[in-house]
Amino acid sequence: MRTALAYHSTGISEKQRLAFEKDVLEGLQEVPRRLHSKYFYDATGDALFQQIMHCPEYYLTRCEMEILRGQAGQIVQSLQQHAPVFDLVELGAGDASKSFYLLKELLRVGAMDTYFPIDISRNIIAQLQQSLPAKLPGLTVQGLNGEYMDMLQAARQITGRPKLVMFMGSSIGNFTPAEALQFCTRLRQQLQPGDLLMIGFDLRKNPQTILDAYNDKAGITRAFNLNLLERINRELDGDFDLSQFTHFPTYDPLTGACRSFLVSLKEQAVHIAGKTVRFAANEPLFMEISQKYTVEEINELGSRSGFKPAEMFYDSKRWFTDVLWQCR
Ligand code: AVI
Repeated sequence: MRTALAYHSTGISEKQRLAFEKDVLEGLQEVPRRLHSKYFYDATGDALFQQIMHCPEYYLTRCEMEILRGQAGQIVQSLQQHAPVFDLVELGAGDASKSFYLLKELLRVGAMDTYFPIDISRNIIAQLQQSLPAKLPGLTVQGLNGEYMDMLQAARQITGRPKLVMFMGSSIGNFTPAEALQFCTRLRQQLQPGDLLMIGFDLRKNPQTILDAYNDKAGITRAFNLNLLERINRELDGDFDLSQFTHFPTYDPLTGACRSFLVSLKEQAVHIAGKTVRFAANEPLFMEISQKYTVEEINELGSRSGFKPAEMFYDSKRWFTDVLWQCR
């Protein structure tokens, strides 16, 4: 399982490499300087994220798995009140380990036709196409490799059945609230009345619990952030000195914004793809936002982007929620 926003370095096209270079150089010219967290996920980043998900401090995955494993029956009952049979479209499916329990239950009650995993990685899609039918006999898998909105449109053209779109794992948190509104509004434009959207949100909780999740004692999250600098060095002919940047996560309990920075430990010049970027001593480089939501904010986001919030499923600690929205 990995993020829904992932871009893999393995097998990326020249077009994707150029987009990476452009995003990196533009982000480093911004004030404050920033890198896009969607580029965390090369092969090493994927492996580090797998480790993060097993860190004792990183509660998000365990909470969401508890919901999907423990409440698959209720979720499917709720889905069936909206449509008897539909296709499931998963944005950033990864290894489908989250949707697995839902797929199993949907198949058991005959409520599903085709599973459309969408992922930017061709490898991930090929693996899913091969492995899932063996694990879930009777499942029709039609993998779609590409950008979410384009592939959603492609799924719509393949079958006219109602769609349940899933965007799990708090990937929505890697957008700012304004970006999340834009994203959900665009999603809504791709969907039709009768379609459903399920999104995983990390909820606000004790600020220390949140901060610890992004500052694990084993240093995996630190390595995950620094890996992007290493990726830039490798793929964009960069010369970041990783020992001269320190991982600095923050959480603002007033806004729910958890942000990760790499702070430059000295005044230094970095060269990337023939360009020079100068960092001041103690200058922060913004790496990632992991936004935390209140229930009210989630409902407002759903309503403002054109959905009717239908149901919320929580883990036992009420730290995480998978919400079901209906297209109005
Ligand atoms: C993928 N995404 C939801 C993770 C998060 O919690 O924001 C990425 C992550 N970054 C640091 N740890 C995990």
